[in-house]
Amino acid sequence: MIAPDLAAAQGRHLDALARAYADILGTEGYDGVLLYSGHAHRHFADDQTASFAAYGHFLHWVPMAGLAHSWLLVRPDHRPTLYFHAPEDFWHLMPRLPEEAWVEAFEVELRAETPPPSLPAGRFAVLGEVSAALASALGAEANPEALTARLDELRVRKNDYEVACLREANRRALAGHRAAREAFLAGGAELDCQLAYLGATRSRESDLPYQNIVGINAHGGVLHYQHYDIDTPARRNGLLLDGGHRYRGYCADITRTWPGPDADPIFAPLVEGVTALQRRLVTALRPGLSYVALHEQMHAGLGTLLVEHGLVRCSADAAVATGITRAFCPHGLGHLLGLQVHDPGGRVAADGTPLSPPACHPALRLTRELEAGMVVTMEPGLYIIPMLLERFRDSRDIDWQRVERLADHGGVRIEDNVLVTAQGPDNLTLHDAE
Ligand code: GLY
Ligand code: MN
Ligand code: MN
Repeated sequence: MIAPDLAAAQGRHLDALARAYADILGTEGYDGVLLYSGHAHRHFADDQTASFAAYGHFLHWVPMAGLAHSWLLVRPDHRPTLYFHAPEDFWHLMPRLPEEAWVEAFEVELRAETPPPSLPAGRFAVLGEVSAALASALGAEANPEALTARLDELRVRKNDYEVACLREANRRALAGHRAAREAFLAGGAELDCQLAYLGATRSRESDLPYQNIVGINAHGGVLHYQHYDIDTPARRNGLLLDGGHRYRGYCADITRTWPGPDADPIFAPLVEGVTALQRRLVTALRPGLSYVALHEQMHAGLGTLLVEHGLVRCSADAAVATGITRAFCPHGLGHLLGLQVHDPGGRVAADGTPLSPPACHPALRLTRELEAGMVVTMEPGLYIIPMLLERFRDSRDIDWQRVERLADHGGVRIEDNVLVTAQGPDNLTLHDAE
């Protein structure tokens, strides 16, 4: 049951969306757009499918991330028509619309078939996972770039409904983090931590916005570590958990690092150092600030941290200039967050100008100026990645003995989800609940 104030906020969200779509369609010269939710893909020569999440622009209207084979026709001055795929099928449970107020905003047509509905006369675009041939058979254009970019831009600033969903996704994800931490400290293996997370968030894995990263010891230093060990290692130095949650389509993306009972004494202070750096960077968030500048501020902070913790012997500035901080932190400070964990629009200015990341920071996904209403992740990290440190092997700027002491701890990352407002940052990850 959705709370009445959230239902009311969703109603305003849909009204605003209808107005914005009418404006954009008018400017781009379309009579309407057909959004496809998408469908799960089969493994080759098999009848089993991979997990599925609906297309972001479809989800912007319809808060059902698992709804496949459905279409939404949006036209100015018409109620949007939702072609809701609900085949009668005794193998599966028929999809059902929830008893929620948002459904009233749509003309709903239940259908058994999967091909798109036919379109009225006029100029239409079809957006989503569709071929040019399918669009052409409908007399429409498939995924025109200019229109897609305008709709991406519409998702960059979040309204009160979207922020409420992101806050709730965060609240639920944090419950998972707490349960996983307890499982780790009680001696659990990576899989036990993941199962504790899923249990506490009442989620199945395919509902997660991305596959949780649950790395004990050196696995925590593999940026997108993809396994869940079933055995607990003899020494438990640390757990790095990057875990999310989806609420009404909107994603949480939170990372925590916890020292284990066998951690080297230099590890916990490093975790505290990265946490303090992360809090300082969050405090700096405000409209008008360049996120690239903030990312560079992170590297300056990491340089200082590496010096303070005795991992490098040169100055903090030299650690940044020589690329040492990038070897310890090869990823970006963060990204836009919303209906996708890496929401679109992060590398293009509001007027459509592409904003490539600086050559030395190719992984940075957010290169634009911050604006009120953006929700961004803030996720500085400091990892021991032998492959990246190797090029400094002959350098006396690095204290290799200390680095070696940390090697079986993997790394540290602290990631929160923060709303940018004119009054200052609003951290949706709720530190006081940790
Ligand atoms: N969990 C993916 C990311 O942090 O970007
Ligand atoms: Mn993450
Ligand atoms: Mn992230």
